[in-house]
Amino acid sequence: MADQHAQSGEDKRPTEIPVIRWEEPPEGPVLVLLDQTRLPVEEVELVCTDAPMLVEAIRSLAVRGAPLLGIAGAYGVALAAVRGFDVDDAADALAGARPTAVNLAVGVRRAQAAYRAELARSGDTDKAAEAALAAARKLHRDDAEASARMAERGLALLDELLPGGGHRVLTHCNTGSLVSGGEGTAFAVALAAHRAGQLRRLWVDETRPLLQGARLTAYEAARSGMAYTLLTDNAAGSLFAAGEVDAVLIGADRIAADGSVANKVGSYPLAVLARYHHVPFIVVAPVTTVDRDTPDGASIEVEQRAGFEVTEVTAPQVPVTGPGGGIPVAPLGTQAYNPAFDVTPPELVTAIVTEEGVVSPVTAEALAEVCARSREV
Ligand code: MRU
Repeated sequence: MADQHAQSGEDKRPTEIPVIRWEEPPEGPVLVLLDQTRLPVEEVELVCTDAPMLVEAIRSLAVRGAPLLGIAGAYGVALAAVRGFDVDDAADALAGARPTAVNLAVGVRRAQAAYRAELARSGDTDKAAEAALAAARKLHRDDAEASARMAERGLALLDELLPGGGHRVLTHCNTGSLVSGGEGTAFAVALAAHRAGQLRRLWVDETRPLLQGARLTAYEAARSGMAYTLLTDNAAGSLFAAGEVDAVLIGADRIAADGSVANKVGSYPLAVLARYHHVPFIVVAPVTTVDRDTPDGASIEVEQRAGFEVTEVTAPQVPVTGPGGGIPVAPLGTQAYNPAFDVTPPELVTAIVTEEGVVSPVTAEALAEVCARSREV
């Protein structure tokens, strides 16, 4: 198949503006986000001065992706604490802003626990707020480190499964530095393969309806100088049939105790295709994404989002005309089915790559054993 996209870029910084940062201007501490709804058209900052603003940023996907949601949630608790708001109310609102990515609740509850522990110890709200901020900063750092270790382990796994290099990898949604304190999850593995000269092509699913693949993964791939090609989600089947996919690499929003994987809607059909075509289907996620309290896939709450995301195109570059703020692509009043995620059963997953180790074959026991290596879980 002829190359459809020739890249010339070198390995630039993933974005000019950091994806998330804590700042302390004279007016008071703020959490500054890169507004991901504006990409790839422009890099715009979103300054959150309180938890409700951050809740809105989470709901609108200005900040998104499982690991980053955890980091943002933890900073959100610190923001409420430092600014003297009710920390428990803020924590509940943040943890409930989106239901599927378990990292969000994990990050929020860690910062809240640090706040409570310090308050119980010293009775000093300033010190307690500092403890919440320290917990958020630690989660941020730990995620960067986890990202690097997942990339290393994932690259080794690719080498083992596909000796000879020249990998053609298909990915879905967005899993790079836009979702992480480091270089991400699945994308970080593809990036490691690219840097090792072993990535022939990254196939990027556009990821309807909100186009995280087209808007965000293609953006990251272009900036890192990878050879990549964008495809509609519907085109994946014919790509497999043509023998053009060597491996699928995706992230996860929640992994149940039995190894079921919730990820962006469209992941499960890829797993079915991969199995039919004997292609490895590899999930890359930090152990914070594994939820031992969710026993199986059926117990994972899948976020249902507004129908207008399907009935209108709401990408930032289109002028606003429809009631949902975009251009209508379906008759007014059309009902839409819009689950944000789907669940892939463990038997379709070749391996789960975490920073603590690779789980393969995917069983509840093997997953629990790898997670037990982490001090935090
Ligand atoms: O709705 P989003 O954009 O937050 O969904 C993100 C995904 O589904 C990612 O694939 C997932 O969070 C893994 S990111 C490491």
